[in-house]
Amino acid sequence: ISSENQQILSAHEWLTKLFHHLIRFTKDGKAGYQYLQERGITDETIDTFQLGFAPNTKNFTATFLEKKGFHQQMLVKFGLLSRSSEDGSISDRFRGRVIFPIRNHLGKTIAFGARALQGGEPKYLNSPETELFQKGKILYNFDLAKKHIRKSNEVVLFEGYFDVISAYQSGVQNAVATMGTALTEIQAKLLKRYVDTVIICYDGDKAGIEATYRAAQLLEQVGCLVKIASIKDGLDPDSFIKEYGGDAFKREVLEASQTFMSFYMQYKKKDFNLSLEGDRIQYVTEILQELAKIESPVEREFYIKELSNEYNITVESLQHEINQYRQKTG
Ligand code: UTP
Ligand code: MN
Ligand code: MN
Ligand code: MN
Ligand code: MN
Repeated sequence: ISSENQQILSAHEWLTKLFHHLIRFTKDGKAGYQYLQERGITDETIDTFQLGFAPNTKNFTATFLEKKGFHQQMLVKFGLLSRSSEDGSISDRFRGRVIFPIRNHLGKTIAFGARALQGGEPKYLNSPETELFQKGKILYNFDLAKKHIRKSNEVVLFEGYFDVISAYQSGVQNAVATMGTALTEIQAKLLKRYVDTVIICYDGDKAGIEATYRAAQLLEQVGCLVKIASIKDGLDPDSFIKEYGGDAFKREVLEASQTFMSFYMQYKKKDFNLSLEGDRIQYVTEILQELAKIESPVEREFYIKELSNEYNITVESLQHEINQYRQKTG
């Protein structure tokens, strides 16, 4: 197994270099290069992230790796090649796609994410989950971000490859991504080992907002201080940067990030029709239950005052109810 590991890492390294070379310097990679240019990605950024292009041919990767002497069976197992279910023939798995090498925390490529150029399905084709690559155990770009994370004692958590890359290009280098899936406890604990503060900056669509809520809870459970950077108009961080620029992203999104509690007070409203009295009471009750978990009395009072103003309830009643919840949960 260990020699198979060596082999497969070596195959990933060769392919990373090949795809990167193609996109930077050859006609075969031109479609990918143009695509990245249109998305505002510079040559320097292409180099930093070792982005590449896999040509739209049947046997380009297969022939290349065969010449290097890698075993086909292994390449199929790790999803660099695919075997046809009809006639068993071997062909390239990544075709006509922009390649994002997914590096482990030591900087070695262990998988690829591959984006279709225009409207192809699936939008991203990733390497399969194997003992080498488990999405839930690593964070995209952790290796490059690590020293910036340490220095700032903060990390920005994104959903996608392009979010990390655009942010990086705008000077936000302490950034990683969960690659679309829900944040796992393993990833949360990994971040906790390096930072106190996690700024969650997921997409501004419904799925992103739901995922923000779950990630925030998990991060608080492992002891991180959570901030939420929301993106307006259903944009995602990359499209926000494209539309408004990196400075606006830093000022209006990152620096304007909210506490988890402010986010939660907003987020919870979706479950209620606040023009109804019964719903308002129910809403306030749920918020108070969450507020009761906050240890700092000053912080609690801050939100109590906000609720008191907004729903015209005395601070005393709110305080009284919170004290009851606090006694119950110890
Ligand atoms: P998104 O759907 O938000 O894509 O998925 P995106 O990153 O904004 O991509 P662009 O801007 O349209 O190119 C977020 C992340 O989820 C993973 C990828 O890691 C993606 O970056 N994902 C998404 C997949 O693995 N497969 C998919 O089909 C879609
Ligand atoms: Mn290079
Ligand atoms: Mn998304
Ligand atoms: Mn997105
Ligand atoms: Mn996007």
